[in-house]
Amino acid sequence: GKTPNPVGLNGRHPRRHLQPASAPAAPMPPPAPRRSSFPVAAALLAAALLILAAGAVAVADDGRTLLEIKKSFRDADNALRDWSGDGASPGYCSWLGVLCDNVTFQVAALNLSGFNLGGEISPAIGDLKSVVSIDFQSSGLSGQIPDEIGDCWSLKMLNLSSNNLEGDIPFSISKLKHLENLILKNNQLVGVIPSTLSQLPNLKILDLAQNKLSGEIPRLIYWSEVLQYLGLRSNKLEGSLSPDMCQLTGLWYFDVKNNSLMGTIPDTIGNCTSFQVLDLSYNHLTGEIPFNIGFLQVATLSLQRNNFSGPIPTVIGLMQALAVLDLSLNQLSGPIPSILGNLTYTEKLYLQGNKLSGPIPPELGNLSALNYLDLNDNKLTGLIPPELGKLTALYDLNLANNELEGTIPDNISSCTSLVSFNAYGNKLNGTIPRSLHKLQSMTYLNLSSNYLNGAIPTELARMINLDVLGFIM
Ligand SMILES: *[C@@H]1O[C@H](CO)[C@@H](O)[C@H](O)[C@H]1NC(C)=O
Ligand SMILES: *[C@@H]1O[C@H](CO)[C@@H](O)[C@H](O)[C@H]1NC(C)=O
Ligand SMILES: *[C@@H]1O[C@H](CO)[C@@H](O)[C@H](O)[C@H]1NC(C)=O
Ligand SMILES: *[C@@H]1O[C@H](CO)[C@@H](O)[C@H](O)[C@H]1NC(C)=O
Ligand SMILES: *[C@@H]1O[C@H](CO)[C@@H](O)[C@H](O)[C@H]1NC(C)=O
Ligand SMILES: *[C@@H]1O[C@H](CO)[C@@H](O)[C@H](O)[C@H]1NC(C)=O
Ligand SMILES: *[C@@H]1O[C@H](CO)[C@@H](O)[C@H](O)[C@H]1NC(C)=O
Ligand SMILES: *[C@@H]1O[C@H](CO)[C@@H](O)[C@H](O)[C@H]1NC(C)=O
Ligand SMILES: *[C@@H]1O[C@H](CO)[C@@H](O)[C@H](O)[C@H]1NC(C)=O
Ligand SMILES: *[C@@H]1O[C@H](CO)[C@@H](O)[C@H](O)[C@H]1NC(C)=O
Ligand SMILES: *[C@@H]1O[C@H](CO)[C@@H](O)[C@H](O)[C@H]1NC(C)=O
Repeated sequence: GKTPNPVGLNGRHPRRHLQPASAPAAPMPPPAPRRSSFPVAAALLAAALLILAAGAVAVADDGRTLLEIKKSFRDADNALRDWSGDGASPGYCSWLGVLCDNVTFQVAALNLSGFNLGGEISPAIGDLKSVVSIDFQSSGLSGQIPDEIGDCWSLKMLNLSSNNLEGDIPFSISKLKHLENLILKNNQLVGVIPSTLSQLPNLKILDLAQNKLSGEIPRLIYWSEVLQYLGLRSNKLEGSLSPDMCQLTGLWYFDVKNNSLMGTIPDTIGNCTSFQVLDLSYNHLTGEIPFNIGFLQVATLSLQRNNFSGPIPTVIGLMQALAVLDLSLNQLSGPIPSILGNLTYTEKLYLQGNKLSGPIPPELGNLSALNYLDLNDNKLTGLIPPELGKLTALYDLNLANNELEGTIPDNISSCTSLVSFNAYGNKLNGTIPRSLHKLQSMTYLNLSSNYLNGAIPTELARMINLDVLGFIM
């Protein structure tokens, strides 16, 4: 089993370093001729010539293949000007973006990322039998991904991201048994995710985000112990989350944000124990957040802008690795569980835009790593707890549009990192604490639509950084 990496205090998710693609082994020499009627010396000579010829042919082919591939690029900037001549061996090995195996002189890697090539990917690409890595990221390519890509049988890494590729994901990709990284994100691909991608036994990274893929996520995709990264964000995927998703026992990154998924979070979610990032935001998911979610040790849990209802399960307070908890813009009701104050590594707590009621638990003052606390647009009542003054790392405190009452506690002035404080639209009374002027980083203060009275403290008026003073009471 794999243990999830601990979350750094800086809240970034741990990066996985992938093995660099290694050069393929040298091909087998052709079998020696069996004609026994030849004299031995002649036979040996013939064999030697055959070997030479075979090597020369393979080498010359890759050079000619590259010239053929070049023909379908527009290459308006003439970036590939050194891709010229007859493509004889081994000259093409020094062409821009070409890396050869230094024994066989076959093309091992092709990296044309970032060149303004334009045009299309030639079907001739399928003749590069030894290529291990193809990187055409951000190369201005359009047209379809040719089926022949499935003939590059040594391929471990294919990165075609950030182009204008259209059409379907070719089923032939499922023939690439060595493929580890398939990065097609940020194109115009349509159609379904081929379920045959589940036949890729070594696939570690599958990133299809920001395309126009539709249909359901094929359940077979989830049956992999090898897959580490599943990026499907911003497509048009439908259907529901499958209970099978937790068969991904080696996965750390699961992102289906911004699709059209419906239904509930499966109860099996508690078995997704390797997940570190779970982003289900911007879908049409419903039902309650299942109790079993408390078994996860994710660093990021984002359920933002769905239609989840019911209470915030208290088990979320046991998810000690949480750095980002975003439950905003749902229909959640009931109180904010005080046990959330136990999330000592949490930097971002977003609960805004729900129907949460009851008081703000003073325990939230224990969230010592907190940078963002957004509780606005709920039905919270009671006082602003002075314990929030313990949040010395807090940049942003948004309590707007609730039913909070009483005075603004002096202790807020202990939130020394505070940049933005919004308490608009509550029932706060009393005067604005003079001590707020100690918050020298603050650039946004919005206290309008309350019952505050008295003058604006002159200390506050002198704060040079303050952009907005919403004191229309
Ligand atoms: C190929 O060249 C690289 C870099 O010069 C070298 O590290 C590697 O050992 C060479 N491989 C073989 C098989 O000679
Ligand atoms: C291709 O080159 C770019 C920089 O030119 C680099 O960022 C990228 O990592 C390279 N791709 C591979 C697969 O090594
Ligand atoms: C394409 O993706 C691969 C695999 O993630 C990565 O190593 C490479 O750097 C990417 N290319 C660019 C230009 O970032
Ligand atoms: C969702 O995806 C659409 C394109 O499909 C994009 O325009 C939009 O910005 C995305 N929204 C979010 C919140 O990611
Ligand atoms: C995890 O899966 C096992 C069976 O594989 C099941 O018995 C168990 O209840 C599941 N746990 C959770 C938390 O869903
Ligand atoms: C969202 O959920 C609420 C409460 O469960 C339900 O009444 C409402 O119809 C749902 N809205 C949509 C758009 O699904
Ligand atoms: C919260 O954390 C404190 C200190 O680690 C611990 O004593 C307490 O039991 C925790 N509360 C819950 C409900 O787990
Ligand atoms: C958390 O906050 C509460 C109320 O402010 C306090 O009583 C408790 O001791 C704190 N717990 C820890 C572990 O700091
Ligand atoms: C409020 O601030 C005062 C003075 O800084 C401090 O003594 C007190 O403990 C704080 N109250 C809470 C609840 O943190
Ligand atoms: C503020 O409002 C509370 C009730 O919400 C009231 O008890 C208190 O006296 C008021 N304080 C001031 C200074 O008006
Ligand atoms: C104050 O906050 C409310 C609620 O977020 C917002 O509607 C209003 O525009 C803000 N006022 C100013 C002056 O920024």
